[in-house]
Amino acid sequence: MNPNKALWEKGDFTRIATGMRSSGEALVGSLGIRSDMKVLDLGCGDGTTAIPAAKLGADVLGVDIASNLVAAGNRRAREQGLTNILFQEGDASDLSDLEDKTFDLVVSVFGAMFAPRPFDVAKEMVRVTRPGGRIFMGNWIPNDPTLVAQVLKISSAYSPPPPEGFVSPMRWGIEADVTERFEAAGIAADRISFDRDSFRFEFPDPPSKVVDAFRLYYGPTMNAFEAAAAAGRNADLQGELEDLFERQNASPSKSTTVIEATFLRVTVSVPAA
Ligand SMILES: C[S@@+](CC[C@H](N)C(=O)[O-])C[C@H]1O[C@@H](n2cnc3c(N)ncnc32)[C@H](O)[C@@H]1O
Repeated sequence: MNPNKALWEKGDFTRIATGMRSSGEALVGSLGIRSDMKVLDLGCGDGTTAIPAAKLGADVLGVDIASNLVAAGNRRAREQGLTNILFQEGDASDLSDLEDKTFDLVVSVFGAMFAPRPFDVAKEMVRVTRPGGRIFMGNWIPNDPTLVAQVLKISSAYSPPPPEGFVSPMRWGIEADVTERFEAAGIAADRISFDRDSFRFEFPDPPSKVVDAFRLYYGPTMNAFEAAAAAGRNADLQGELEDLFERQNASPSKSTTVIEATFLRVTVSVPAA
């Protein structure tokens, strides 16, 4: 079994994604999507950004490695009566069933960053974008003090060491790495721009319950809890995460959770032919 696929099929990311909808929609609103566009959303999950893009009228293809999330995305699209969107299984580092120069906009929000072989990911994103089109990525930033970078940092501290040759997904949050990857895919550095933005997580539950959701449903945290349990350190991990979520909670009520997380916006303008 492909470990990358196994990681994301292990849990149920829809349980986390429910807390990401409003920021997903706002982010999509900032991308200049029009109804005459073809949009590819890579690592789309159950459609936090793909569904708002379809609601703007674009023709949207969502690609994700996890079959359970693809099914959840198609279900959500059906429930919302959207006929201009399709979710299908695929790997961001090998999009061989997609043709060259197809999409006006390739979006990947906290998605393709988790695929192996980042140089192949950049090459594939460039290959399927039409000349004059754009690529947009939202990537978490290593060592950033806000939520997701810290969840991943704490989780990896409890997890077994990664296999030899593993490239951390967080390197997609380092501008020099991103530039090197897109340059290797034939894009000049002056066509790549960076910005910082903030993504809001909102849950109708207190922080400790949100940590429970990460423990039960978020692949990277599930793996960390398994390793922690084997080492008798389950309570330490739960405690560290609860402390993090409590500290970052900006909700005026103790019974709900609202946390902002900083991310890197990457925009690549693919040259016109
Ligand atoms: C943190 S979730 C983000 C999902 C979605 N973009 C969102 O914002 O809600 C990461 C997603 O990337 C997907 N993913 C991980 N590796 C992938 C790969 N190699 N190819 C395609 N999708 C991948 C996972 O299955 C998961 O849905």
